[in-house]
Amino acid sequence: MTSRPLFLYALCGSQRQASSSRRLLEALRLACPEDTTIEICDLIGDLPIFNPDHEGERTPAIVETFAAKIRQADGLIVSCPEYAHGVPGGFKNALDWLVSRDEIPFKPLMFAHASHRGDFVLDQLAEVLRTMSLRIVLEAFLRLPIAGKSDETQAALLVQARDEGLLRGRLDHFAKVILSEG
Ligand SMILES: Cc1cc2nc3c(=O)[nH]c(=O)nc-3n(C[C@H](O)[C@H](O)[C@H](O)COP(=O)(O)O)c2cc1C
Repeated sequence: MTSRPLFLYALCGSQRQASSSRRLLEALRLACPEDTTIEICDLIGDLPIFNPDHEGERTPAIVETFAAKIRQADGLIVSCPEYAHGVPGGFKNALDWLVSRDEIPFKPLMFAHASHRGDFVLDQLAEVLRTMSLRIVLEAFLRLPIAGKSDETQAALLVQARDEGLLRGRLDHFAKVILSEG
């Protein structure tokens, strides 16, 4: 297995400014090794509502930008809250834009889940993402229940997870799988 720099694109299912899902992604970004870059996607909230009539030559520029980042990525990290036992609409909308395109198939993906609840959304996302032919790396699954806790407690739990090597450990595992698959 040869090493090379990795680019991971992180997708957050929450649009909240104080999102715990995003905070977990930020913590992973800061914990990643030097030869790995994590960029957190800021486009999801601005994507238009998916319409198959607007694919192909009529694809909006922002969707092309989003898809180009996905193409560039060696792997995706998804952190998504559960809304009414399901996937938040804005996040599903972002995925729908990618369904018929060729950037997604076989792309490795890890979940970073910021809640002790939300198993419905994990199951539903797994079904959707597998249907889109993503490769979910279950061994890299990270669950860090910070949702609903105060700012200070969230920060303390994230520091603890970093210091105990949990964040880096999951990233290392994800990187190993990506590199072993070429
Ligand atoms: C509209 C709405 C519906 C929700 N439904 C659920 C739910 O079905 N199950 C659950 O565990 N949490 C539910 N929650 C709680 C969120 O998952 C929780 O607040 C989570 O922290 C939000 O993620 P964020 O901090 O990244 O924004 C809901 C929150 C909202 C705003």
